[in-house]
Amino acid sequence: MPLSLRKIACIGAGYVGGPTMAVIADRCPDIDVTVLDLNAERIAAWNSEDLPVYEPGLAEVVSRARGRNLRFVGQAEGAAYVAAADAVFISVNTPTKTEGEGAGKASDLRYVESCARFIAAHATGHTIVIEKSTMPVRAADCVKSILATARPGVTFDILSNPEFLAEGTAIRDLEQPDRVLIGGERPESIAALAEIYRRWVPAERILSTGLWSAELSKLVANAFLAQRVSSINSISALCEVTGADVEEVAAVVGADSRIGPKFLRASVGFGGSCFQKDLLSLIYISESYGLTEVAAYWQQVVDLNQWQKRRFADLIAAPIADGAGSLRGRRIAILGFAFKKDTNDVRETPAMDVCRRLLARGATLAVHDYRVTPESVRSELGAQGVEVAATPEAALAGADGVAVLTEWSAYATLDWARLAGMLKAGAVIHDGRNILDAGAVRRAGLILRSIGRGAQPNA
Ligand code: UDX
Ligand code: ADP
Repeated sequence: MPLSLRKIACIGAGYVGGPTMAVIADRCPDIDVTVLDLNAERIAAWNSEDLPVYEPGLAEVVSRARGRNLRFVGQAEGAAYVAAADAVFISVNTPTKTEGEGAGKASDLRYVESCARFIAAHATGHTIVIEKSTMPVRAADCVKSILATARPGVTFDILSNPEFLAEGTAIRDLEQPDRVLIGGERPESIAALAEIYRRWVPAERILSTGLWSAELSKLVANAFLAQRVSSINSISALCEVTGADVEEVAAVVGADSRIGPKFLRASVGFGGSCFQKDLLSLIYISESYGLTEVAAYWQQVVDLNQWQKRRFADLIAAPIADGAGSLRGRRIAILGFAFKKDTNDVRETPAMDVCRRLLARGATLAVHDYRVTPESVRSELGAQGVEVAATPEAALAGADGVAVLTEWSAYATLDWARLAGMLKAGAVIHDGRNILDAGAVRRAGLILRSIGRGAQPNA
């Protein structure tokens, strides 16, 4: 008889676990969904009107399902739901290790291992354990060995079901995914999970593979996406010195159907919790199998990204630094701190590296973002030399230089004719996302430098 998943639990109520379970609960009113997390504050926020994750459309999905077939509970209360669950998702963070073997590269599996121990301790009967978090290839071996410590008679099957949602578009990505990937060893377990997604995802978009292919595919998908960004960013530097326009080059290159137009936007650098972490994990795995050239190939994607962030900070500093290179007494308006628009997430945001580099040279920064809280900015940058501005205007007042670091749509429509007088004379505007209306900025008498675009006539 095919398995049927009627009760599911998810350990980890973060950017992935929360939205994913909310969409499953919304689409499958007959399935009971429990999300648990060690972090009581986060759980309280999921149970409030002020959700811990900002995602367009998320609040509506949560409000439809919460209290019906979706609940958010703390760890202690969650044990009983794990015991009753037919399937338990592991959706916790797998950050880059900071100490021990593989420090700086390998993914830290300690949170995953602790989930596996929790499941082993509380599960009853037969439970499907589903890796939702991004794992290094063969991580399921480690999960399996921990689950093997469960009481006799308690059995498990493991699936890898990595999430491909991108922040800012999480709900759309979950509701209309390009593909759902389920890797596993037993077809009946794969079919049971596929049955959930089939409620709203066409069958041809549900891909099933072996366990190791699924784990590796997620790392490789992120590595390829990051590689495209580093590729176009490398070209942005070449455009700036040759007078070519990276947007034009990207449009031409992307018009080739073999290449495609997406993910070719030059920027100050990629950020987010996944790209760098997953690249480093891929590099570490390659190194550990002795594949030095493979590791070096992907390392270059990371290195180029670091270089792009440094390069952009130095471009901002160049026109306003004193003879010794110091930015002391210079005020720089930072427009945008999130790693991309439509999210409040600052993990690995390129803004952090750019700001730190400017602060290290003595600059004072006035940081504005539409969603990132002042506490988040200060926890990344400290308070010294950092002012958090409530509006773009407040950040721009008296600025010697301006840097657009996040592509918030509202920055594209700033009224530069009105704002120009607020800036110090000669202030240069550096557009790290190519979203400003170049004509409007220049008509306001301001100097604009855009990433990947050679100097323009009035510059
Ligand atoms: C990514 C993957 O897209 C997603 O499939 C995976 O599940 C998690 O990692 P995310 O990190 O949320 O998602 O955002 P994404 O849209 O991929 O952007 C990552 C970074 O690349 C951002 O800093 C973004 O600004 C930057 N980027 C993206 C560019 O600089 N140029 C582009 O053309 C695209
Ligand atoms: P992601 O972007 O992968 O969702 P987040 O950091 O946003 O990552 O969320 C991961 C969540 O997992 C956090 O809320 C964290 O408290 C939770 N978590 C980590 N380890 C455990 C654990 N052993 N049990 C329960 N929750 C955990």
